[in-house]
Amino acid sequence: MHRLAVSARYASYFSRVHGPKSLQRSARLFPSQPLHRANFASQSDVPPTSTFFTRLQRLGLAASQTFQSQSASAPLYNENGKQTAASPDAARGTSTQEEPKLELSRLLQLAKEERHLIGFALSAQLISASSIMLFPFALGKVVDTVSSSAPELDALVALMGGVFAISAVASAARVSAMSLAGSRISRDLRVSLFHAIMKQETAFFDKRQSGELVNRLSSDVPLVARTLTDNLAKIIRAGVTSTASLGFILYLSPTLSLVTLGSIPPILGFAVMFGRAARKLSRKLVDALAEATQVAAERTSAIRTVRTFGAEDIETKRYANRVDETYHLAKKVAFADGLYAGSVQLSAQMSLCGVLWFGGRMVIDPLNPMTMGALTSFSMYAVNLGVAVSGMGTAYGQLTRALGAGHRIFEVIDREPDGASSTICEQPPNVAHSQVGVPVKPKASLRRLQPGYDATVSFEDVHFKYPTQPDTAILNGVNLTVRPGEIIAIAGASGSGKSTMSSLLSRLYEPTSGTISLGNEPIANLDTAWLREQIAVVAQEPVLFNGTITENIQYAMPGEVSMQRIQRAARAAASHDMILSLPNKYETMVGERGASLSGGQRARTALCRALVRDPRVLVLDEHSAALDAESERAVAQAVYTSASELNMAVITIAHRTSSLRRADRVAVLADGVVIEIGSYDDLMKQEDSCLRRMLNPTRTPI
Ligand SMILES: Nc1ncnc2c1ncn2[C@@H]1O[C@H](COP(=O)(O)OP(=O)(O)O)[C@@H](O)[C@H]1O
Ligand SMILES: [Mg+2]
Repeated sequence: MHRLAVSARYASYFSRVHGPKSLQRSARLFPSQPLHRANFASQSDVPPTSTFFTRLQRLGLAASQTFQSQSASAPLYNENGKQTAASPDAARGTSTQEEPKLELSRLLQLAKEERHLIGFALSAQLISASSIMLFPFALGKVVDTVSSSAPELDALVALMGGVFAISAVASAARVSAMSLAGSRISRDLRVSLFHAIMKQETAFFDKRQSGELVNRLSSDVPLVARTLTDNLAKIIRAGVTSTASLGFILYLSPTLSLVTLGSIPPILGFAVMFGRAARKLSRKLVDALAEATQVAAERTSAIRTVRTFGAEDIETKRYANRVDETYHLAKKVAFADGLYAGSVQLSAQMSLCGVLWFGGRMVIDPLNPMTMGALTSFSMYAVNLGVAVSGMGTAYGQLTRALGAGHRIFEVIDREPDGASSTICEQPPNVAHSQVGVPVKPKASLRRLQPGYDATVSFEDVHFKYPTQPDTAILNGVNLTVRPGEIIAIAGASGSGKSTMSSLLSRLYEPTSGTISLGNEPIANLDTAWLREQIAVVAQEPVLFNGTITENIQYAMPGEVSMQRIQRAARAAASHDMILSLPNKYETMVGERGASLSGGQRARTALCRALVRDPRVLVLDEHSAALDAESERAVAQAVYTSASELNMAVITIAHRTSSLRRADRVAVLADGVVIEIGSYDDLMKQEDSCLRRMLNPTRTPI
């Protein structure tokens, strides 16, 4: 049967690419491909997981409940940052017993968005299915016509030809329309999901691996869309075929119909049994695949680190092990698949034997009215019925399996971000339909301060714990005020929470308690997007995106930015000459994450990006660490000059004595509080000052 053929084809694919010793085998089979490749030029260059996954999806094996798997996803958190699922184990424990919570109706809702296209496809389906249904009947007539040598043969065959032509056109229309509907559902679902991901609070990303989120976009979405459209079509076709077949066999011979119907209960029984087993297996399979994908994504993105430690072989083995795990599961699924196909075929064909035996006797029996043609038609309808019923079972099974992947998608789409850390608009762009996205909700606050406001930043008794580490207090009541035009340096041991303060100020996280305000207004009451325009942060490890220097600087500003403005920012960061010294000046490509630039060049470009906005508050998080002393001095001088011109409040997180000296005041952070604050000279004069101990750890106080 068709299914069996498909299984065999993919089984051979598995053994070719992902055999149990996939590593050795791939080396043997693809000797021209070195095991550790250079940078993968594009995604299509990394075939194993993606292709493998795609193949599996086509087999319908990949849909499942990975949502609860330990690596593939993390437990959800409620508003208080408490885990709603007690442990991954508990979550998994329920997953094996419970069906996905997502109802089929939610998936059908997606189909409803494309109802015109799908409706068209289904009408075409009806036409082609009904013409196919006529075939056995016509064949029976042909047989009887031939055996009675009646003259209608020409007309009958011509009629059949015509019907087949119509059917072919209808089939073509159906396939195209369904595939188009699937792609449209994919497109909208992808955009909605990405939009939902972008909208989540920062802590959401601390708990999830980016590879896993990307996996949802790249694998789960098309899986759901495809499975939905394919199986809707299959179920409709099977429904039409089985109803029509049933009608025909009852018309042809009610007695013989009983024999045929006997095969249906075993087929449905097998479908249910198989569905259960395959669902469990495929759940595990998708978990294993997600782990493999995560390993591949993380290691390829960190290829430089892998390479400097000479770990290519180790990583390849690690990946091969993950893939082997999926292979072992896929093997079981393949056997289950085969067993199902075989059993269904056996029940269907056994019932056919019964039909031929009983039917043959009925034809031979002179008292019986059954003709040879009728028996021929009947047998074909019986086969059609068997195929349709088993097809319906399979399609239903696949649809329920797609619910698992659907669950992973809707889990994110439906998730309300905790806190107003996102600045995103409420409707995803370019999505034709509103149903896919989340309901429109008003933003938490749209308050902005009047232009020319007093940009004083203050932390008042700020406490903070990271949602992922609810037992570790990072800040224990920080108090700090920075006035416009003032430069405050924050010093403190690494891990003392300096960068955390900067994240809290730009509202990447919400303080557990206490208030952070800008211009005497708690930032929680301000429009987050506006707030972030006011505060420019040069992160400790600034990330540039692949593109030119200009594009990276422009990133800070929505819309067009004049070249003058970009150059002005570059001059304010004392980086104009540095940029001009690059091969293509402002048009130099920076590479992925800015990898083609030196650390210092990256830091300076990031500074230009921060300054181009003319922010009211500037936070420099150890930005000078990658600069040599000379450049650091030049950059600091330029930045502080423009900061004082623009009356900016500057917070600089620094270690270097020179940076600390340049600040108006130094705040020392320890044990989650600002333990001392004052000018560098004053603090250094105090015998027992922490700053002094920090800067001269070996010298005993005089
Ligand atoms: N996203 C995060 N999730 C959980 N813990 C974090 C996160 N970021 C930082 N931490 C922890 O918070 C503490 C303070 O980090 P950070 O503010 O980066 O220190 P630093 O003073 O060196 O900038 C560290 O112990 C670090 O392990
Ligand atoms: Mg830091």
